Amino acid sequence: MSNSPRTVVITGGSRGLGAGIVQSFLDSGDRVASCSRSATDQVRLWEKEHGDRFLFVEADIADRTQSTAFAKAVIERWGSVDVLVNNAGVARDGILALFSDEDTDTVIDLNLKATIHLSRQIVRNMLAHDGGRIVNISSITGLTGYRGLTVYGATKAAIDGFTRALAREVGSRKITVNSIASGYLRTEMSHGLDDGQLNQIVRRTPAGRLGEPDDIARAVQFLVDERNDWITGQVLVIDGGLTC
Ligand SMILES: NC(=O)c1ccc[n+]([C@@H]2O[C@H](COP(=O)([O-])OP(=O)(O)OC[C@H]3O[C@@H](n4cnc5c(N)ncnc54)[C@H](OP(=O)(O)O)[C@@H]3O)[C@@H](O)[C@H]2O)c1
Repeated sequence: MSNSPRTVVITGGSRGLGAGIVQSFLDSGDRVASCSRSATDQVRLWEKEHGDRFLFVEADIADRTQSTAFAKAVIERWGSVDVLVNNAGVARDGILALFSDEDTDTVIDLNLKATIHLSRQIVRNMLAHDGGRIVNISSITGLTGYRGLTVYGATKAAIDGFTRALAREVGSRKITVNSIASGYLRTEMSHGLDDGQLNQIVRRTPAGRLGEPDDIARAVQFLVDERNDWITGQVLVIDGGLTC
């Protein structure tokens, strides 16, 4: 791990939680590389304002060729990667009995297979350098289950298992691996929930509100702090107390 400025890779940084995490690392003075299938106005603004330390690649990371090209572009530009935040994810809702094979593949290909593929490439780079930090964004739905989110919940539970196993594999090489099991956030992804569902979630949440990207971004910063090398293999639940 190098001291600040660190090189930080964040998938799915064009909007939602990923954009909040990108902003947080730009604010802390780091070099940030991100990707998504298309750029947004926010991405173009970052390119204009922070072009010397912000790299954006249009890439569908569920496609292994594009994921490899993204990792290559980051490493060509900055050499070593200090932090990887596996944030890009997709949800498809619907009860399992009516769920399509296509939706099953879309969710598993991005949430699980793409996370594993990109992690493999970045871990190789971290092993060849001075360690690193990996944070996987999972979800409380992987812990508690949520009706209509069986496949999504399965991928998030799998990510937590991946986190624990990888933490054991790379711990002796100064790499930590943790998950954040996020509660419900006010992003486009939660637009799939209707008002009744959202109100019910808020009513049952001790903190009395949905989460904001910043609530999670601050926890990511904590987990990747170079002093926090004794926290690894953990699933940190951040959900306003919903599942406590
Ligand atoms: N929102 C919640 O309530 C909630 C709760 C718990 C956990 N999470 C997790 O938090 C993470 C972020 O969710 P969010 O709410 O911020 O979602 P979001 O608003 O839908 O944003 C998803 C981001 O991922 C990118 N993306 C989607 N498919 C991609 C692909 N194939 N390749 C590369 N990038 C891709 C999107 O850009 P493009 O569409 O342009 O590719 C976008 O930047 C996900 O892992 C999600 O499962 C969210």
